[in-house]
Amino acid sequence: FVHQLADESVGMEELLVSPLRLETKAAFPLPLDLYGAGRANSLGRDLAVVAQRDDLLAAHAVCVVPTVAEARSDEVDAAVDRAIKAFDAWNHAPVAQRAAALRFAGDALEAQLPRFCALLVKEAHKTWSDAVSEVREAVDFLRFYANEAERIQAPQTLPGPTGESNTLRLEGRGAWVCISPWNFPLAIFVGQVAAALATGNTVLAKPAEQTPAVALEAVKLLHAAGIPANALQLLHGPGETVGAALVAQPGVAGVVFTGSTQVAKIIQRALAAKDGPIVPLIAETGGINAMLVDSTALPEQVADAVVQSAFRSAGQRCSALRLLCVHEGIADHVIEMIQGAAKELVVGDTADLATDVGPLIDADAFEGIQREVQRLRAQVKALLPEPAPTAALPTLMPPQMFEIGAVADAKQEIFGPVLQVVRWKGDPLAVLQQINALGYGLTLGIQTRIDNRAQALARAARVGNVYVNRNMIGAVVGVQPFGGEGLSGTGPKAGGPNYLLRFCAEQTLTINT
Ligand code: SER
Repeated sequence: FVHQLADESVGMEELLVSPLRLETKAAFPLPLDLYGAGRANSLGRDLAVVAQRDDLLAAHAVCVVPTVAEARSDEVDAAVDRAIKAFDAWNHAPVAQRAAALRFAGDALEAQLPRFCALLVKEAHKTWSDAVSEVREAVDFLRFYANEAERIQAPQTLPGPTGESNTLRLEGRGAWVCISPWNFPLAIFVGQVAAALATGNTVLAKPAEQTPAVALEAVKLLHAAGIPANALQLLHGPGETVGAALVAQPGVAGVVFTGSTQVAKIIQRALAAKDGPIVPLIAETGGINAMLVDSTALPEQVADAVVQSAFRSAGQRCSALRLLCVHEGIADHVIEMIQGAAKELVVGDTADLATDVGPLIDADAFEGIQREVQRLRAQVKALLPEPAPTAALPTLMPPQMFEIGAVADAKQEIFGPVLQVVRWKGDPLAVLQQINALGYGLTLGIQTRIDNRAQALARAARVGNVYVNRNMIGAVVGVQPFGGEGLSGTGPKAGGPNYLLRFCAEQTLTINT
């Protein structure tokens, strides 16, 4: 152990290591377990039994994915008009009333977990394990933002000079456009919408065109829970047309967007180019997320964390691991363990309960990633065998792993189960500076048993979420507020104590008494 450290210029005084935590070792093959799926806390509720296998399969057997119609431009105009007109009444309703409707929706969603899981499996190719996690996350968002709105919208009396009363009050801003992605078609859709609604805003929701049915069912549930029809309207269609038309509307009070950095910038430019008020944008985008592994890390723990972070959800998470930076002293051993674990993953149709890695969302995504994979295969060393195409599931992509020469060679986010590995030696802080220099700032994994080093690396990291000695996906609402900086987004962090503030207008009322 000390021998391994020799290369990393660590003084003996720093050898204050964490105890070995053998219980975190993974058993291989890795079970992405259904019953403990997700780390969603469901905000203190007893969800020990989240789903029964038979209930899930029965729901899947009867699940029909509804089709939807694309919104025409006159429908977009009319919807925005209705949302603006509905704002005053919804904003002036007591926050407790809005919160009650969201809690009611949370309870209804929890009760319908198998139905929503089945829809996520059918429409978004989610594995069952991911589907269960996602429903639980959506439930958590509904409850968390209900609680948060009540907390921050209680009028605050501020101390001031005698003879004056000063009160700070937070209200909604107006009609918000919520543009959500296909990779979390329920959780992120519901999270955005619930945040805007809880604080008194009305919502024009534009879900990803790949996953309209999940959004449609969620909106039906929210309406049934008491959200007025004009306070929450759903508009289907591509971002280039329907999304762009919504953002361009003069009366829009704010935009919340989750998707690519490139589209976030297009939205930012479109908002800046409009006449009228300055419109806030909350953008949560992607990342070239790295895991920095030093020579003291536990290889078993690293391999488990890497496989979960890079390959779960077929790598289609903005938090997913893209770049493994492993110290040369343990690189061969770690790579070998990842190769072994990756081979054990069940890759196939997600209707099967045993599947760990399902198909990519669609042919466009597959082709884009396949191009990057072919480029890597031609230029660098492949660490996993080239998979044979699967005729029955043409967008299926088994995990891929490549060794590249330098951190800077990871030039773009590859939004699939593709991991790039780089070996390092010397100073881990220097490696971290190279990771920072990529410009993204969403998640970072650190694997080390030197506590001081973990703290120093975390402080130097320009990212929103740092995970030490564990996987780096699956942020829990209210526990691990999620979101990045730089090319990865604007903040504030979803599921955190500051998120709702951006949805609010603040008024200070000073009265000479
Ligand atoms: N919030 C998700 C996660 O933490 C990513 O979008 O994995």
